[in-house]
Formats: sequence, structure tokens, C-alpha cells
Amino acid sequence: MISSTMATRINAQINRELYSAYFYLGLSAQAEAANLKGTAAWFLAKHGEEMTHALKMYRYLIDQDARMELSAVDAPPVDGGGVLRMFEQTLAHEREVTAAINDLVDQALAEKDHATNVFLQWFVTEQIEEEATVNDILGRLRLFGDQGQSLLMIDNELSGLAKQMGQAGADSPAGA
Ligand SMILES: [Fe+2]
Ligand SMILES: [Fe+2]
Repeated sequence: MISSTMATRINAQINRELYSAYFYLGLSAQAEAANLKGTAAWFLAKHGEEMTHALKMYRYLIDQDARMELSAVDAPPVDGGGVLRMFEQTLAHEREVTAAINDLVDQALAEKDHATNVFLQWFVTEQIEEEATVNDILGRLRLFGDQGQSLLMIDNELSGLAKQMGQAGADSPAGA
């Protein structure tokens, strides 16, 4: 059993993860509209990952017999910028999520809630990986540019990465 404060904070994070999923679905749609199939597939794979994050937390609350407070999910922004802008938005978004996860860990530590602290460690590690991946993509976009041939190259790379993400999801029975 976890505290009601902790449960409320995790419920808020479920909403953030669902928003993340929606945010990436929006970017996937933007990429589709621009005929960037690889980029669209990458953002759609991100959407799937964020849904599993939300469901991991949902399951944790059920396992802890905590109260579920499912709230409305905001609409994602409609930006219309290019691929560079999409990944800049992605990095900014993931940094906000990392800060929110860290706040949750602070709360768990303050309450000496060891179970929640252990549960959250997976998300701490996941955020390191997510930020690193996006930083890497952004670095390549800045190096090679986001137009013409280099855009085609990066779109192809993202297609490959999306397939790997789909594979990793399928290989993990826990839905990590
Ligand atoms: Fe997430
Ligand atoms: Fe994420």
C-alpha cells in the first residue's frame, strides 16, 4: 500500500505518459503529412512506448491497491515545423518528463517508500536512454542538415530504428 499523495503523483504521471503518447502521435501525423515515412514510423513507435509506460504505472497502482484517477489528456501542439524542429520539441519534452520522474523519486525517498522507489528506477534509466537517443538524432540532423539527401538518409535511419523499437517491444514480455 502506498500513500495517497504518492498515488496522486503517480496518477499525474500516468496522464503525462498518455500525453507523451499523444504528443508523439501528433508528430507522427505531421511526418506522414510530409511524406517522411521513416520519421512517422519512429514517432509511432515512440507512441507505443509511451503507452506501455502509462500501463506500467497503471498496473503498479492496481498492484498497490491504490486509487485510480484517470484525467483528461491535453491535445498535442500543432506545429508544422520541419524534422529538426520535431526533434528539438522531442528533446525538450523528454527533459520535462525526466524532471517529473525525478520529482516522483524525490517523493518516494521522502516517504521512505522503497517499493515505489524501486519501481521508478526503471523509468530513471529509460529517460537516460531516451534523451541520449534523441540527442544523437538531433546531432546528426544538425551535422548533415534536414533537407534533401540528408533528410532522406535520416528518414531511412529512423525507419530502421523504428523497426528495432518494435522488435524490442515484442521481445519483452513485461512490455518494457
Ligand atoms: Fe515515458
Ligand atoms: Fe519518453
